[in-house]
Amino acid sequence: MPVDLKNDQPLAWDSATLDADTKAMLDNLQANILRAHVREHLSVLFVRFNNAREGRRYLRGLARKVKSARKHLAEVRDFNLNGRRGTPYVGVGISKAGYRDLGHSEVEVGKFTDVVFRDGMKRRVAVINDPPADQWENAYQQDIHAVILIGDARPEPVARLRRQIIGELPRSARVLGEETGRGMHNATGEGIEHFGYVDGRSQPLFVKDEVDKEPKEHWNPALPLENILAQDPLAPNPAAHHGSYLVFRKLEQDVRAFHQIERDLADELGLVGADRDRAGAMLFGRFRDGTPLTDKPLPAGGPVSNDFNFDADPGSKCPVSSHIRKSNPRSFGREVLMVRRGQTYGVRIDDPTDDSPPENRPSSGVGLLFMSFNHSLLDQFEFTQDKWANEPEFPAPGTGHDPVIGQGERDIKVTFPKVWGQPELSPSIPQVAQTITMKGGEYFFMPSLAYLRSL
Ligand code: HEM
Repeated sequence: MPVDLKNDQPLAWDSATLDADTKAMLDNLQANILRAHVREHLSVLFVRFNNAREGRRYLRGLARKVKSARKHLAEVRDFNLNGRRGTPYVGVGISKAGYRDLGHSEVEVGKFTDVVFRDGMKRRVAVINDPPADQWENAYQQDIHAVILIGDARPEPVARLRRQIIGELPRSARVLGEETGRGMHNATGEGIEHFGYVDGRSQPLFVKDEVDKEPKEHWNPALPLENILAQDPLAPNPAAHHGSYLVFRKLEQDVRAFHQIERDLADELGLVGADRDRAGAMLFGRFRDGTPLTDKPLPAGGPVSNDFNFDADPGSKCPVSSHIRKSNPRSFGREVLMVRRGQTYGVRIDDPTDDSPPENRPSSGVGLLFMSFNHSLLDQFEFTQDKWANEPEFPAPGTGHDPVIGQGERDIKVTFPKVWGQPELSPSIPQVAQTITMKGGEYFFMPSLAYLRSL
């Protein structure tokens, strides 16, 4: 019996009654897909092979360092029980060009059902309004065959593994480029992105102990495995060996411009005192500390809630255009949700959590290494970017682009609620400018360990 990906019962992965195929799935799925792996320090290597036999042998060897989902889940359990630190994360993804270079025929590559994966990111720029590929950073303009992710809580294991992994590359292979991710945190220890907002809080969950911890009165984060897994068509037994499609996008953030926009918007709407924080919160849908705007008019402190929906809020509390409402409307579209596993990049000399003025903020060189795992790139990542974020008429005419990630001409004017929870709207004003620029990326498939070992 193939693994039932439609089952939305959270996975009791260490239950004695788990069926053989689900066990095989967990033993062969790479870590960091089902459940987030710690990657405070992250090294991302982009590789080109150039020789099928050597590339295959290299990946077969690399498989020894790639952790399975089951091993990761066991390490998390041990850490929670007795504080024992887990091993570093190594993950590998292969692009369409990579599979071809490893000697797979067009027919074999055609078994990947995702058309977007088979096109590659460069051929999709027009669909999702990305900058043309000749404006991307040099590494991304080339044909990337594989991405290798190396992550850990501490820098030393990442540096050691990175050296080893690069050192073991065959002579025929080349490292085309590299990114370095580094976690950022606010005063309460929550992970933040460069504009200063808590990030990574709302995620689809698949594992029982993670789902059990969440209050679920207004929003149930448990989703079936079919939101992230896909059969690995080139593995020895695709019914039991799974992988996931990875989106990698380097998104540069103009922090200076965004902070100026927050101030200008607060002025424009006449917000005063603590209510000024509502300007930025209306762009994201959450305050900096993660408090959902639909729940509270001011930041609340305390644990960051994810148990909310927008059913009782026509947009007078949280604008329908806000980033989180556009990318997860919550009352529909659960099948679109992907897991986000990104990491911030770039070094800051300012303190991203203080309130110093925009001119002290970086305008380039920092951003998000956006990564997400999908069952279908077409129906999840691209759908979110194209049909929701970039679409000014979603969910209704006059909504505007997603102010954070929307790409394309922001030509319509928009309104904001003047007072939290009151129907009165501001006059129509131009949409805020785009402050995020895509610098390059690629689509990959994270194959099963069974595939890597079979090479
Ligand atoms: C949520 C920031 C890019 C999709 C969030 C949150 C923040 C954030 C602060 C709220 C925290 C949370 O709920 O986890 C950013 C920044 C980005 C970026 C700064 C770029 C530099 C993207 C992209 C997509 C995306 C490219 C997809 C196309 C989502 C989704 C959520 C989210 C699905 C969760 C919404 C929910 O379930 O409530 N993002 N994001 N984000 N973002 Fe982004």
